[in-house]
Amino acid sequence: MFIMKIDPWKSIEIKDYNKAMKEFGIQSINPLIKKLPKKHHYFTRNIVFGHKSLQPVLEAVKKKKPFVMMTGLMPSGKFHFGHKIIADLMIYFQEIGAECYIAVADIESYLTRNVPLEKARKVAIDEYLLNYIALGLNSEKTHFYFQSSGSKSYMNLSKFVAKKTTFNELKAIYGDLTPEKIISALTQVADILHPQLKEFGGPKPVVVPVGLDQLPHINLTRDIASRFKLNYNFILPSATFNKMLPGLKGGKMSSSEPENAVFLTDSPENVEKKIKKYAFSGGQPTIKEHKEKGGNPDIDVSYQWLTFLEEDDKKLKNIYEDYKSGKLLSSELKEILIKKINSFLKGHQEKMKKAVNSFDKFMYKDV
Ligand code: TRP
Repeated sequence: MFIMKIDPWKSIEIKDYNKAMKEFGIQSINPLIKKLPKKHHYFTRNIVFGHKSLQPVLEAVKKKKPFVMMTGLMPSGKFHFGHKIIADLMIYFQEIGAECYIAVADIESYLTRNVPLEKARKVAIDEYLLNYIALGLNSEKTHFYFQSSGSKSYMNLSKFVAKKTTFNELKAIYGDLTPEKIISALTQVADILHPQLKEFGGPKPVVVPVGLDQLPHINLTRDIASRFKLNYNFILPSATFNKMLPGLKGGKMSSSEPENAVFLTDSPENVEKKIKKYAFSGGQPTIKEHKEKGGNPDIDVSYQWLTFLEEDDKKLKNIYEDYKSGKLLSSELKEILIKKINSFLKGHQEKMKKAVNSFDKFMYKDV
């Protein structure tokens, strides 16, 4: 049994990802990186650090067979750079051939966070879905849907899955249970499994990119899938696990703490102000000391952010070395990050304005 339990409805902070992988039966991504048809720094830098049975997905990629990228979002507050990681992964999997299914977890956010469906819909569209489109999803291979209005076969599956688990199993996985949590968990199981129904051209490999907090749902889904062999012949869904982008001051980034997050709608001035004021520095207290002793990139939030944002390995390595040696000052490192973010946001915010026009094309049409 796991020593530590993850509660998917509370925020968790992982200090040691290697330990977490061992404890939770997650495979290292490293042996599979060379099998990816396209390089991405999230994989090579272990931002995506682990997976569960990604092999069937890689097989499908290799043989140009159909496969699915499925994930979901809780529509809570404004879209920040932490949210962008999953979006980048959606697009990555789409670029290597996946059809994308994206669930708005409006049922879950109503049941577990009391967000009214109407509000969830608005936040999901304005903050999440439009950002996904602007980041580059392709409408021909993407289906957005709301948990509250999925297809009939999906709705039914979300109830049928109850037959393949027990109350004791759910208690063992989730600890404290409520009816709301049970319905939310089973709905998520159906989110992940339904692209494999006959109506959707299944069975076929499905990859679910998530943060480690979603692991309990992944485990439950895989267990239930294996017990449905006779009925549906599901392939066990695969998952990738990614690290979280730290908040500016360290710790977890959250939409409810604007000074700890950078939103994709922030103005250039605001980005500059937040990073200068709040980004935790691994530099020395004085310039003189910094030049003598050097900074510590491993605890410096601006540097950590660049490992997510700077795609060029060589540039990143130079920044690391110059900062460590003391040649690059904290203020200069922050300037590099501010420039990187603002040049991205300039184009992105333009694309957001246009995204509204194509939104309809992305919505799921009932089969
Ligand atoms: N529970 C997820 C969250 O809290 C949202 C979600 C709903 C989801 N359905 C999903 C994630 C299916 C992955 C796959 O963010």
